[in-house]
Amino acid sequence: MVIENLQAFIQDELATLWGVHSQIQELSGNLAAIHAVLQDAEEKQIRERVVKLWLQKLSDAAHVLDDILDECSIESNRLQSDQCLTRLDPVTIMFRRDIGKRMKEMVDRFRQIDEERRRFELRGRVPERQQEDEAWRQTCSGITKHNIYGREQDTENIVEFLSRSADSSNDFSVYPIVGMGGLGKTTLVRWVYNDNKVIEHFDLRIWVCVSTEFNTMRILESIVESTSGHNPNLSTLEALKNKVQEILLGKRYLLVLDDVWSTDKWEDLKSVLLCGGGTKGAAVLVTTRVESVASVMGTCPAHHLSPLFEDDNWLLFKYHAFGSDKVEHTELVAIGKKIVKKCGGSPLASKALGSLLRNKKEEIQWVNVLESKF
Ligand SMILES: Nc1ncnc2c1ncn2[C@@H]1O[C@H](COP(=O)(O)OP(=O)(O)OP(=O)(O)O)[C@@H](O)[C@H]1O
Ligand SMILES: [Mg+2]
Repeated sequence: MVIENLQAFIQDELATLWGVHSQIQELSGNLAAIHAVLQDAEEKQIRERVVKLWLQKLSDAAHVLDDILDECSIESNRLQSDQCLTRLDPVTIMFRRDIGKRMKEMVDRFRQIDEERRRFELRGRVPERQQEDEAWRQTCSGITKHNIYGREQDTENIVEFLSRSADSSNDFSVYPIVGMGGLGKTTLVRWVYNDNKVIEHFDLRIWVCVSTEFNTMRILESIVESTSGHNPNLSTLEALKNKVQEILLGKRYLLVLDDVWSTDKWEDLKSVLLCGGGTKGAAVLVTTRVESVASVMGTCPAHHLSPLFEDDNWLLFKYHAFGSDKVEHTELVAIGKKIVKKCGGSPLASKALGSLLRNKKEEIQWVNVLESKF
């Protein structure tokens, strides 16, 4: 916001009016460099106290700078509206001198903040980040022995729904699971997918990670690839549709569409999945953060995932923080429980913080995490 205000300040020629053009130029340069690493700094502040203090210093300085910019524009408005005042008016001259001095102090302050930035080796924003995110967001159906705590009731309800719906005359049921990021939707669905009853019930199970872009061609390709093990190398939607229907026709299948963000192309995909009515009780499980996605896609009310019970979230945290180390330090356990309370039932938060504190045996390191604004 301050960067934008600085630019407006230059454009409105206020910088020239108040004789602080060169200072504003330098401030803009420093702030742009700082802005580029802000995301990384915000992520690092949880672990590194110095980065947290630096961000605080930056935030304080940005507020002071913004106040100065405000004062300048108020004074300029006064100057414009009051015909009797001129730039040579003593009050205006004093103001100009005062602003010049304060701006110089701001330049020094931001110069120092920018120099400190270099010491932290913060990463700039990389254009490939989106692509990296896409790859990072990919999920698959596999599970390991230790990775679920709680969620017994949810698993039971969903398994029951799947057995019931795929048996009924309704040939195509879509069951959305909704909840905020990191609440454990994908994890839960993975367990359902690998549940023995589910494995027995369906002829075919398919897992597709949809992610931010709902790309029908890519989803159909994934269906073919995961069932046949080969990339179909088909370039048209029509050919892919035929191939997918060949696979699904006459089958009782379970399709997981994990991490759906939009429904623009859902009708197209749905028409392929229906196989002209030729399926034998198909069920689709959808995970999404977006309520409207659930209501558009669902053939029944969505399953709203609740926060993880605190006891289960504690077990998750404990597993990651202490690992197989059987000796749990009483003081750390007490702080850890407070950290888990602050996680508000988010398994992602509890797992991330637990892993962060693994091998950290100093109480102060735990207290720092507890007191950080995660
Ligand atoms: N019940 C659980 N027991 C153990 N770990 C869990 C549990 N639920 C979630 N996790 C862990 O928390 C993290 C986030 O879970 P998950 O990816 O399932 O969330 P999500 O709701 O699908 O998030 P997103 O909306 O970002 O896709 C994962 O690392 C997962 O292993
Ligand atoms: Mg997920």
